[in-house]
Amino acid sequence: MPQVHQHNYDVVIVGAGGAGMRAALESSSRVRTAVLTKLYPTRSHTGAAQGGMCAALANVEEDNWEWHTFDTVKGGDYLVDQDAAEVMCREAIDAVIDLEKMGLPFNRTPEGRIDQRRFGGHTRNHGEAAVRRSCFAADRTGHMILQTLYQNCVKQDVQFFNEFYVLDLIVQDGHAAGAVAYELATGDIHVFAAKAVILATGGFGKVFKTTSNAHTLTGDGMGIIWRKGLPLEDMEFFQFHPTGLAGLGILLSEAARGEGGILRNADGERFMERYAPTIKDLAPRDIVARSMANEVREGRGAGPEKDYVLLDLTHLPREQIDAKLPDITEFARTYLGVEPYTEPVPVYPTAHYAMGGVPTNIRAEVLGNNTEVVPGLYAAGEVACVSVHGSNRLGTNSLLDINVFGRRAGIAAAEYAATHSHVGLPVGAQGTVTAMVSTLLESTGTERVATLRAKMQSTMDRNAQVYRTDASLKQAEEDIAALKQRYANVSISDKGKRFNSDLLEAIELGFLLDLAEVLVVGARARNESRGGHFREDYPNRDDVNFMRHTMAYREGDGAIRLDYKPVVQTRYQPMERKY
Ligand code: FUM
Repeated sequence: MPQVHQHNYDVVIVGAGGAGMRAALESSSRVRTAVLTKLYPTRSHTGAAQGGMCAALANVEEDNWEWHTFDTVKGGDYLVDQDAAEVMCREAIDAVIDLEKMGLPFNRTPEGRIDQRRFGGHTRNHGEAAVRRSCFAADRTGHMILQTLYQNCVKQDVQFFNEFYVLDLIVQDGHAAGAVAYELATGDIHVFAAKAVILATGGFGKVFKTTSNAHTLTGDGMGIIWRKGLPLEDMEFFQFHPTGLAGLGILLSEAARGEGGILRNADGERFMERYAPTIKDLAPRDIVARSMANEVREGRGAGPEKDYVLLDLTHLPREQIDAKLPDITEFARTYLGVEPYTEPVPVYPTAHYAMGGVPTNIRAEVLGNNTEVVPGLYAAGEVACVSVHGSNRLGTNSLLDINVFGRRAGIAAAEYAATHSHVGLPVGAQGTVTAMVSTLLESTGTERVATLRAKMQSTMDRNAQVYRTDASLKQAEEDIAALKQRYANVSISDKGKRFNSDLLEAIELGFLLDLAEVLVVGARARNESRGGHFREDYPNRDDVNFMRHTMAYREGDGAIRLDYKPVVQTRYQPMERKY
């Protein structure tokens, strides 16, 4: 049996990416706070975000937060909760200034102000033309945010537990009461009692094969919530970033197009002029990704297999490329052997971001159903669905989301902890995790994790990607169901206690299979096309029947029950989405 350790804190934060560390800076200055992370904090996936964090600073041209809110709502194809979008866009300006004061090295204008650049779907005056709204640090903005937050956490003496995999949430009498973690180095189990818990565990892009997501993006936080019988919201909406390196999925920032890069088909045509005549290559990601896939489907793809399109930077001055896009151009050289100064880069959409997740309100409180909060439980960042992104997130709104709602979660959880007592732990709080671990260690099954994971990713790429139909989703649903049965017979080779990544990958696969199923079931039930969810058999948006959020629940027998809740509308009525 593994050794079990007990800890006691006011607030426990799960995850040390941007949302988790931004929350930690607030919470740890108020109450006793622990941050548990399955990684070393600066290896978190926030570091992979490239192009920027948007805020209507109006440093380089006229802008205001109301235009930003409008773009966010329209970009999200009117599934955005507009109260949440207003909060995010209004607080964006202070969020950037906070980071600047913490020491983040933003690119500057010649006058010394924070520089800003264009990004998809961000416009001036309700769609007139692209606006420069994204604040950036070359094409390493997420990396810089992560480093800055970490340095400030160290300065503030935040207590981190690194390489601690949280595998269960403790809920007592309907209240969050702590978390249970598996320590990678020792195989020991740690029970953390807490008055409040914040989930900041990121997304689940590893359900797909072609993805910009790190290997660690396995949806653990969402998976834990799901197994507790709590709902997940809008899981069918998954964003495909237009410019993944072809065949690999590695992210090439949209900043490349913000700086003037152009997408071309095999004929050299700037095809986005046909799909989005006003803002062309800077249309929202769902539109650009589908346009690219359509070019390939209609035979205008480039390359020997005609299976990608080209990102052309060759007309940009080399100094601009070197100053503003150094990392991504290096990726093209390293991974594809292409020289972006002189050659166009092969690109194709890559699974990038989950718009859905754990439902929260604007105070970052987790919702246990359509309206009621789970006392003491908070979530922020990609794991959460406060629904600022609706059915399609605008580029650079994610680094913004983690800062605005990470901060809000940290403050709210600390205030809750300061005014409440521990609810106490149930007897054997570690039971779920010890059972999960020992079942896998003792299994003599014949199924391999790598095989099942590859099959899951392959069916998701084939059947639940940019274009979907009922038939393709049904196929994915059947494939996932069969894989879940096989997963019950999975075994691992490493039976040891120290650094048993074999064991953890098996557990992560369990979460991924659950989430893939929720995605597909939600997508099959949504008989319309909206944002990142495009159904070829229902190609139009249907506001009468589907302008509502999907709420998925796990029933006692493991079956999925779907429910719906209304979208929060404040000032914008749904319009046709033209760009
Ligand atoms: O394209 C990018 O730089 C990615 C940004 C984002 O997802 O917000």
